[in-house]
Amino acid sequence: MAEARQIRHHSRKERQHKPGMGRGPMYGMVMEKPKDFKGSFKKLINYLKPQLPFLIMVIVLAALGTILYIIAPRITANAINALQNGIMRGKLDMEYIIKTLIIVAAIYVLSSLLNFLSYFLSAGVSQRVVYRMRKDVKEKFKKLPIEYYDTHSSGNILSVVTNDIETISLTLQQSISQAINSALSIVGILIMMLTISGYMTLIAVGSLPLFLIITMVIAKKSQKKFVKQQAKLGQLNGYVEEMYSNKMVVQLYNKEKRAVQNFEEINEELYDAGKNAQFLSGIIMPMLQFVNNLSYVAISVVGGILAGGRLMIGDIQAFMQYSHQFGQPIMQTANIINIIQSTVAAAQRLFDLLESQEEPQDVAQPADISKVKGEVVFEGVDFSYDKNTELLKDINFKVESGGVIAIVGPTGAGKTTLVNLLMRFYEIDKGRITIDGIDIRNMAKKDLRSLFGMVLQDTWLESGSLMENIAYAKPNGDLEDVKKAAEKAHIDHFIDTLPQGYHTLINEDVTNISQGEKQLITIARAIYADPKILILDEATSSVDTRTESYIQNAMTAMMKGKTSFIIAHRLSTIRKAGLILVMDKGKIVEQGNHEELLNKKGFYYNLYNSQFNAQNI
Ligand SMILES: Nc1ncnc2c1ncn2[C@@H]1O[C@H](COP(=O)(O)OP(=O)(O)O)[C@@H](O)[C@H]1O
Ligand SMILES: [Mg+2]
Repeated sequence: MAEARQIRHHSRKERQHKPGMGRGPMYGMVMEKPKDFKGSFKKLINYLKPQLPFLIMVIVLAALGTILYIIAPRITANAINALQNGIMRGKLDMEYIIKTLIIVAAIYVLSSLLNFLSYFLSAGVSQRVVYRMRKDVKEKFKKLPIEYYDTHSSGNILSVVTNDIETISLTLQQSISQAINSALSIVGILIMMLTISGYMTLIAVGSLPLFLIITMVIAKKSQKKFVKQQAKLGQLNGYVEEMYSNKMVVQLYNKEKRAVQNFEEINEELYDAGKNAQFLSGIIMPMLQFVNNLSYVAISVVGGILAGGRLMIGDIQAFMQYSHQFGQPIMQTANIINIIQSTVAAAQRLFDLLESQEEPQDVAQPADISKVKGEVVFEGVDFSYDKNTELLKDINFKVESGGVIAIVGPTGAGKTTLVNLLMRFYEIDKGRITIDGIDIRNMAKKDLRSLFGMVLQDTWLESGSLMENIAYAKPNGDLEDVKKAAEKAHIDHFIDTLPQGYHTLINEDVTNISQGEKQLITIARAIYADPKILILDEATSSVDTRTESYIQNAMTAMMKGKTSFIIAHRLSTIRKAGLILVMDKGKIVEQGNHEELLNKKGFYYNLYNSQFNAQNI
């Protein structure tokens, strides 16, 4: 059942904090280099291939828009020159001037229109690409083995699906037109400037290295600070979450003071790093502005001198406009290089996920399970999570259908692992597991898992109504059946006392329902699902003894006629089991019923006595 999967990530994984990738100007961005740039880039291109016609349109439109935008000042210059000539000669050619200005206006309008269209199309391209990516991820999630979730934190997986895909989407939407725009602008503006004046172009271009040096020096410094800031921020987030989610433990051990102190320390460091980072990135703009103004002055002076003889006012005006426009595409180009890097890095994480190993496929002709009653046999099963450390070794046992099998042993003995193998969440290394004589590897996984119902120590309720939670196995179920299941689980009275009854909504942090009540709800869920085989993994270990006896009764009702695997800490729960497996360090050290095992005076005997005594203190 899917339930087992869910619980595993909730309990086993800590969230990992990945500070969000800033998308600011280049000097504020943390460089992120992808490991395999070429490979990931190629795969990204593959996703773009179906969008090729649109992409070409985006590029053509952006290019046309940019060219028009660059030409406009040059034409404006004609009008101003005509004005100057007219004034000097005392005869204005108004018709020409107005015509020229109308053309300029039309060019600006057309250029904006083309840019608008190109952005509109690239938004479509971007959304279609990431739509497909999300779909592929969704399909992939269905095929990933549990192992994947063991080795990848849910925080990281989440970050791929949200942050990384968002990064790709933003880049596709903005950066393609921007790249075309920047490249064409640099070349176009340079040509335009050269047609006006070589000297002035020399000054404008000559001040560029100064821009680059300032930007690079400060960017390098501020980048270090930004990295530190992000790291501290991540640390702070992690700390807050840890403290918040463990609030009770923190209070219990009177660690609040220390918690506050730690928080203040990290906060102080974050303040320092943040202040420096922000200051450095803050001064960069004024400094660039200063250099820009200097070059402006120089251009004006040279322009003025040249104007005496060869240059018209309109040309100088156009040149000033071009030199003003020149800085932007250069900054943008630098920025785009960074964006491409972080985008390919994001794409790489996405492709790593999409290409990770999948669960083995079902066999071509899965066995028919409709007549399965629930006889379970393990034959010489070996298994290890990590192929270097052996865990389960030569496991052999048989449970008749409808039988009750209890598995006991110290923590870490491999009890939970055993039932995980039964549901084929992991593949065994040796031997075979059969249900009614059918090797579970010959069953479709979906069929196999439909045979099981689970009640675990960590109760897992989904957000939704109580009714939906109980009817989890067969949604759109009948309320009457749900009520019957609740009755058998002895939770019906409690539900009836709730104002909304079965329609009470459960949210993420359910507070009005106790642990024991939640457990009874999961039992009602298992009863409702009516599986052939039940798995109760330490189902009563997190509730008090009074609730436990309730749950005990509910479980007895649930187990009727079903093969049941009971894993329990409390030996009192399992005395009645037909077969008891005693496990230690991955091996079955003893098996038999309660009396037989006690008479052996071995492992079980000792376990039973130590527990029995402990419970009577
Ligand atoms: N997903 C996993 N990946 C790697 N090792 C695991 C995993 N789950 C459990 N183990 C290890 O396998 C051993 C048996 O665990 P488990 O079957 O949960 O024990 P039990 O349920 O008897 O307490 C333990 O040493 C545990 O650390
Ligand atoms: Mg366990």
